[in-house]
Amino acid sequence: MDKPYLELNLGVNILNNSYVMPEFDQDRVKIYRLEYSNLNPEFVSIFQKYTRSNPTNIQLFYTPPNTMNKNIHLDGSGVSDMWAINQVVSGTKNGIMRWFNSISDNVKYNQTGITTKYYSYDISEVSEIDRHTIKDSAIVRIGIPHNIDNPDNEPRWCISIRPERYHFTYQELYNKFTA
Ligand SMILES: [Fe+2]
Repeated sequence: MDKPYLELNLGVNILNNSYVMPEFDQDRVKIYRLEYSNLNPEFVSIFQKYTRSNPTNIQLFYTPPNTMNKNIHLDGSGVSDMWAINQVVSGTKNGIMRWFNSISDNVKYNQTGITTKYYSYDISEVSEIDRHTIKDSAIVRIGIPHNIDNPDNEPRWCISIRPERYHFTYQELYNKFTA
C-alpha cells in the first residue's frame, strides 16, 4: 500500500484571512463545521481543478495539548478509501497523524458532535502502520483507522476538507498527484 498521506505544497491558506478562530481550551477534541464562505477562493479553485468536485464538509478540528493514543477512528459514510485535504491552521505544528490496521472485531460505531458517523477503536485494538507530521497541507487517507497525537503543550487546530462527490478514491488521487 502507498503512504496514507501525500504532502501538498498548496502555497495558499485553505481558510479565508478574515476567518476568526474559535476560542476553546477544554481537554477534549472538538469539531466545528465551517461554511463554504470561510474558504479562500484560491484554494477552492485548486481543489476543484484536482478533485473535479466542490469542497464540502469543512471541518475544523481542535486537539488539546498532550493528547496521545486517543480518538482512533475510521470515517464512515459508505464511501470506501476516502480522503480529505488537511492543513494545520493554528497552534502547534508538531501534531502527528497516525494510521493503523484493525486487529479487533469489536468495533464501536459512533457519531461526532456534528453527526458525522465513524467507527472508533481503542489503542489495544489496532497496530500502527504509518505516521506523519503535516508540514503545509496534505491529502490524507481516512478510510482506514487513524488519529492525531498532540505531544505539545499548545493545542492543534487543523482544517479538513472533503469533496461533495468522491470522483476519485484516495489511491486514485494519490496516483494523480504523484504521476
Ligand atoms: Fe478522521
